[in-house]
Amino acid sequence: MEKVSEIINKARKMNIAIPAFNVPYLPMIEPIIQAVIDEDSFSLIEVARVEWMKTGAKGPREVYEEFIKWEKPNYVRLHLDHVPVIDEDNKRVDYLPIIKEALEMGYESVMVDGSRLDLEANIQATRRVAELAHKKDAACEAELGAVMGHEPGPLPPYEEIFASGKGFTDVKEAEIFVAQTNCDWLSVAIGNIHGAISGALRNKKKPEARLDIKHLSRLSEVTRIPLVLHGGSGIAREYYLEAVKNGISKVNVGTELRQTYEAALQEDNSIAKAQDAVYNHTRNLISGYYNVSGIQKKIFG
Ligand code: 13P
Repeated sequence: MEKVSEIINKARKMNIAIPAFNVPYLPMIEPIIQAVIDEDSFSLIEVARVEWMKTGAKGPREVYEEFIKWEKPNYVRLHLDHVPVIDEDNKRVDYLPIIKEALEMGYESVMVDGSRLDLEANIQATRRVAELAHKKDAACEAELGAVMGHEPGPLPPYEEIFASGKGFTDVKEAEIFVAQTNCDWLSVAIGNIHGAISGALRNKKKPEARLDIKHLSRLSEVTRIPLVLHGGSGIAREYYLEAVKNGISKVNVGTELRQTYEAALQEDNSIAKAQDAVYNHTRNLISGYYNVSGIQKKIFG
């Protein structure tokens, strides 16, 4: 079976970004997988620690068990998203046992998020996780710079973040980071922000982000590995399409489908109807915004 790192490397060569759909609720897994299959596409299914701590994903084992009921490895693979060393509430996390357990279980790629550490500590933590992942033939994603938005409390106005470049991934640091950690994929901050997951903002429309494409292209040049775009919901589309031509090979999509699921559930109090809404919206995203219908054949030849 083709390794997920090989699949994402191929996507990079073909200027395709593979969507990674977050599953904050277990019943979202089946309709998302079905939508990917019906669109002849390829995606990752992913869960972040914050989604089992603060929404309904329960835990990495529960997600794994639901995933293997529906999995089709030529269409979907399972990824462990953000396991932070310091979390969105500024608390230290015992991150290694979570990552080790997921790798033992069968997650094929994992993300260690050391972005709230200084450079040296982020390098140390990432290098260790990359070693563990590679021993299991799995891939390691890391983050450098700050993709904001998961923290409780309002963000500074979006235009201020974009204009100041606050938290953007530093090019020189990115070069050093990738060389020293041996990570497979790097999450970069280039104007993208996460949709809010707590408080009143979680149900609101996300601010429409823009991306600094020149900065991205410099990051891609020096790192020469697949780059990951977090906060993939609701970015102004012309910027998104340029990002895919400039090194983004994986795009994380959370808010779009979480809000769809929650709104449908609230309206009808029916999980089946909420699953239908997720299925339809996922198909629309694949064929429309992310433009990845039919990529399954390109990737697997
Ligand atoms: P959005 O919720 O903004 O789509 O971001 C998802 C994400 O980046 C998860 O890691």
